[in-house]
Amino acid sequence: MCGIVGYAGEKNNAWEVLLKGLKRLEYRGYDSCGIAIESSKGELFLDRVKGRVEALSEKISNKKYKNISAGIAHTRWATHGVPNEENAHPHTDCDGSIVIVHNGIIENYIEIKNELKDHNFKSDTDTEVIVHLIEDNIKKLNKGGKSNRLEMLHPIFFQAFLNTLNKLKGSFAIAVIWNKVPGVILAARRFSPLVIGKGEGENFLSSDVAGFLEYTNNVYFMDDDEIAFIDKNNIVFFDFNGKKKNKDIKKIDWDIKMAEKGGYKHFMLKEIHEQEMGFENTIARRVLPVGEYILNKEINLTIEEIKNFSSIQFIACGTAYHAAYVGKYLFEKLGIKSDIDLASEFPQRAKIIDKKALVIAISQSGETADTLEAIRSAKKNGNKIFAITNTVGSTISRESDYVIYTHCGPEIAVASTKAFTAQLAALYVLALHFSYIKGNLLITKAREFAEELLEIPKLIKKTLECEEYVKEIVDKFEDRNDYLFIARGINYPIALEGALKLKEISYLHAEGYAAGEMKHGPIAIISDGMPVVAIATTQTELDLIKGNIEETKARGGKVIAIADEDSKKFIRPDFYIKIPKVSEYFAPVLTVIPLQLFAYYTALKRGRDIDKPRNLAKSVTVR
Ligand code: AGP
Repeated sequence: MCGIVGYAGEKNNAWEVLLKGLKRLEYRGYDSCGIAIESSKGELFLDRVKGRVEALSEKISNKKYKNISAGIAHTRWATHGVPNEENAHPHTDCDGSIVIVHNGIIENYIEIKNELKDHNFKSDTDTEVIVHLIEDNIKKLNKGGKSNRLEMLHPIFFQAFLNTLNKLKGSFAIAVIWNKVPGVILAARRFSPLVIGKGEGENFLSSDVAGFLEYTNNVYFMDDDEIAFIDKNNIVFFDFNGKKKNKDIKKIDWDIKMAEKGGYKHFMLKEIHEQEMGFENTIARRVLPVGEYILNKEINLTIEEIKNFSSIQFIACGTAYHAAYVGKYLFEKLGIKSDIDLASEFPQRAKIIDKKALVIAISQSGETADTLEAIRSAKKNGNKIFAITNTVGSTISRESDYVIYTHCGPEIAVASTKAFTAQLAALYVLALHFSYIKGNLLITKAREFAEELLEIPKLIKKTLECEEYVKEIVDKFEDRNDYLFIARGINYPIALEGALKLKEISYLHAEGYAAGEMKHGPIAIISDGMPVVAIATTQTELDLIKGNIEETKARGGKVIAIADEDSKKFIRPDFYIKIPKVSEYFAPVLTVIPLQLFAYYTALKRGRDIDKPRNLAKSVTVR
């Protein structure tokens, strides 16, 4: 995963620019980090630490950098080599004059290392071979380092970089500087995200726009197998044959405030409270109050095409997978056959998917490697891909045939919350649109659906009123280490999501189960005082879950029910979190909210690092 940033320009505080960028990219990995600053005279200053950006910031706080011309920095999520200072990026060649940061995995690094026997390797990383290979290529091109003329060194640096890239197998977003050509950064991308920011007399690069959004929102999104030559005044793109390429610049409408905490203790809590906004923004202008839909103009998917696809195949990972799972229930309730796969499991069965099925891929980051691979295998099979993502210009958005964006702003906390409900919002819009066009939903029903959809943001706000009560419940279970979440039907994915959320930020054992499965095994783990969260919103769900609740209580378990106001007469839980009454379709948007709060306050009580839980990274760009 990892995050990289780069700066070409003369700001005296360039190191602060880079550290700020790293801080915003810490969600991508945070076990170690480092920075390299280059002066216009070719001096290089390099610092690395095991740990977070804060530690790096402290380490370099007394340094005075002068005549700055460029810099690169990195925050790491270890894949090859333990997290320590030696393995932290940047890495250097033998004499420390070429410096690199890298996000990705070099698959053939052992072969390359074996070829570079006379080089002095200082780390256990795959990355280090790249910089030694550049060094080797420079030596070959410069005939042992004879030329010192800048106009000669520029093309040598470029050609050596190009030769190196063509030898690498695997995934990479790379930025390199060489102190013989101060002020120049060479960058390249294959499968790992990389964006370039255009400023005034300064330019930037980053794994995502949050890394430089404070300075510019004019952005180039790099494609696979592209190189960028960057200095303070120029950004020039090339392909891997060294041929120049033209690229369009895009304006990003996120502002930097959206990527800050705004008074909340954690990004996660802020993002839980932003769900009304995220949901509202995602449906805005897509569903008119009268129940008319203007989606066709946005997605360029014709009525004929919608009528012609046979079914939906969902693919996604983690929380996005749970949103997709709600989507499956939703589409099927609206008469559209749907299937779902974990993106990581999908490629092996892509070949047997009906070619007329529309593949819907959901991803907050738009960069998840498993989802991307699933998309590629579905395309190979001949399927059309429809992406739902939060990240404009992301790889998934560009590799898909159709895309709609969720508009919930940048999600920084590793645990996904507002992106989830915004993904549901997008799914409601799509389900309404598709089922109306396919003739499964008549105009009056479609209008009712649309009208209720437009009310959901208000109900999200109302549901958040349960926060204090959720805190009280959390206190009652401060000594418990095992949790069970059960539900049926369209709320079943919410039981999975409740368990995932709790696991990832509190490190406690939690399982999500279809309530009907309880008696087939999980009931055995219920013991005195064990918390069981039961979610039910429809009459059928209540009628059935009633039995699970009683069976749990009879074995000493404590039941926390999440249900609407009307359900009190049907169930007798120990704790009862009320959500507003909505029709079955929309219940998951509301039932998930108490579970997000439950996970948050449980993790808070146990002093966990909520926004950056151990072993995780937000954007999972390795398979
Ligand atoms: C959610 O809380 C997780 N951190 C994780 O499961 C995430 O949803 C998953 O990695 C998918 O990410 P994406 O939406 O960016 O593809």
